[in-house]
Amino acid sequence: MSWIRKRELMVKPEILPGEVEGALDQAAKLVIRNLPEFTEYFPKAYSENGFYAATPNVDWTTGFWTGEVWLAYEHTGRGELLQAGRVQMDSFLERIESKREVETHDLGFLYSPSCVAGYKLTGSEVGRKAALMAARELTGRFHEKGEFIQAWGPLGAPDNYRLIIDCLLNLPLLYWAAEETGEERYRQAAERHIHTALSHVIREDFSTWHTFFFDRETGAPDHGATCQGYRDGSAWARGQAWGVYGIAIGYRYTKRQEYIPMFEGVTDYFLSHLPEDLVPFWDLEFGDGDEQPRDSSSAAIAACGMLEMAKYLDGERSEYYRGIARRLVKALADKCGVKDPAVSNGLVLHSTYSNHSPYNTCNHYGVDECNLWGDYFYMEALTRLHKDWQVYW
Ligand code: GLY
Repeated sequence: MSWIRKRELMVKPEILPGEVEGALDQAAKLVIRNLPEFTEYFPKAYSENGFYAATPNVDWTTGFWTGEVWLAYEHTGRGELLQAGRVQMDSFLERIESKREVETHDLGFLYSPSCVAGYKLTGSEVGRKAALMAARELTGRFHEKGEFIQAWGPLGAPDNYRLIIDCLLNLPLLYWAAEETGEERYRQAAERHIHTALSHVIREDFSTWHTFFFDRETGAPDHGATCQGYRDGSAWARGQAWGVYGIAIGYRYTKRQEYIPMFEGVTDYFLSHLPEDLVPFWDLEFGDGDEQPRDSSSAAIAACGMLEMAKYLDGERSEYYRGIARRLVKALADKCGVKDPAVSNGLVLHSTYSNHSPYNTCNHYGVDECNLWGDYFYMEALTRLHKDWQVYW
């Protein structure tokens, strides 16, 4: 990144400790307010006109809500949050036991912030059992041919013989299962996947592919493609953010030195393509002056990644990424944070789930709305800034 860009970023205001505390208080208050509606049921993945409807535990996103409940519990110690977390872990156990909507790589998104977190925080055997079952299910999606975990669709389907960058965040479930059971196969699947993913999704300029296909017969790398980004050659903002956090998590578990320059490159690409107000456009192709929606969730995810990686970098680089994360979180709190529950029952406005373009293959929904991962990672970033946090991932 150029020095000019770095200087421009460094003059933005950082969130102050008192503001972190205030924002966490507010987030926890909003989560508690929502418990009567969302304990037996879960919020839908994204809000509509600012409000989440209630759904059963069926989508890839419900774990983020339970994660919010646990983060609010950590912050307040309130008994109703503990109780809600327990009810929701029962639901996650029932879901994996009945194999409902678990044919997906998203099992880490589902089971790390809900059941691994609940186990770490409360010693829950329900959480442990459910998360171990989910980890076993996830390894079933690993392909020897290509050495990756297949993202979507029926296993081996020719139109879906691919990985996606988002999956880097599903791997901590496998690392946790390896530590918990002593079975190395979990760690091996995670490490082979991350190696394959990082070898192919990062382009020469450190922008990233959302998805990458492999040859089904030989396992040879085939081609990159977008699903949720604007076009094939662009950098989908959230994909880039999954890369930032995913590489940091990969480093956390492997300590592979070659991941450090990858982290720096992918993160600096993300930061170089932010608009003045630091709330990312949904695709990094767009910038100030473009009439395009934002994806605030990608700033929250990237901030968590920077705060994680800062733990392992030397003094100056560590302080640099921490400082940038504080600036992104300040922008989120000031410009997107929900202050009034009459406006929304979410936490963070101006996010984008899936924005259809003439050049991508995704459906159109959740544009300029709240979504569950945006809310969750905002709370996680605040928690990381507030204390030395024991990670759920
Ligand atoms: N992992 C799916 C998404 O980020 O939309």
